[in-house]
Amino acid sequence: MIHGILNLTGAALFASSLILRKKKFRKQGLVLSALGYGIMMAAAHLGGKMVYEYRVGVDRTSGQILPEEFCAVMPEKGLEDSKPTRAEYHGTPIVLVRKGEQIFALAETCSHFSGPLSEGKLIGDTIVCPYHDSRFALNDGRVINGPAVHPQPCLEARIKDGQIQVRKPRLSSSLVFDR
Ligand code: FES
Repeated sequence: MIHGILNLTGAALFASSLILRKKKFRKQGLVLSALGYGIMMAAAHLGGKMVYEYRVGVDRTSGQILPEEFCAVMPEKGLEDSKPTRAEYHGTPIVLVRKGEQIFALAETCSHFSGPLSEGKLIGDTIVCPYHDSRFALNDGRVINGPAVHPQPCLEARIKDGQIQVRKPRLSSSLVFDR
């Protein structure tokens, strides 16, 4: 909000400066444009801080390590039906959801602001983040409702030897069931 207000103030100062200069009040116009530059510099500084320090608008799942090949992440018995459950692959949290015969797997860290999707709620074939209510499709991780703008990385899942295994999708992100 502060970033937006600073930008609007800067724009208003430049517009006022232009009007004053047109009316031949050159000195006053210069003062207003100098103020505008100052305000815009503060806005730019804050914008950079938001992105680089607080990572606002940055995909929070970028750089996460996900398995290239099928890899066991939890015993099949540990996954209840319709209950988002957290598993892990080399420190990367993964949310697993069983829906009858189907198992879905997504990166657990919400792409918006790192909310834990395993604590979110299911609505049909979607999961809602507990922090700001972004909603993602379970089958491909696409954003159904924001504020998130980046999709959730989606994994292929299968059950083998009593274990749930996941890997990065090859052709499609849909379920592979292989008992
Ligand atoms: S952290 Fe998930 S919607 Fe904001």
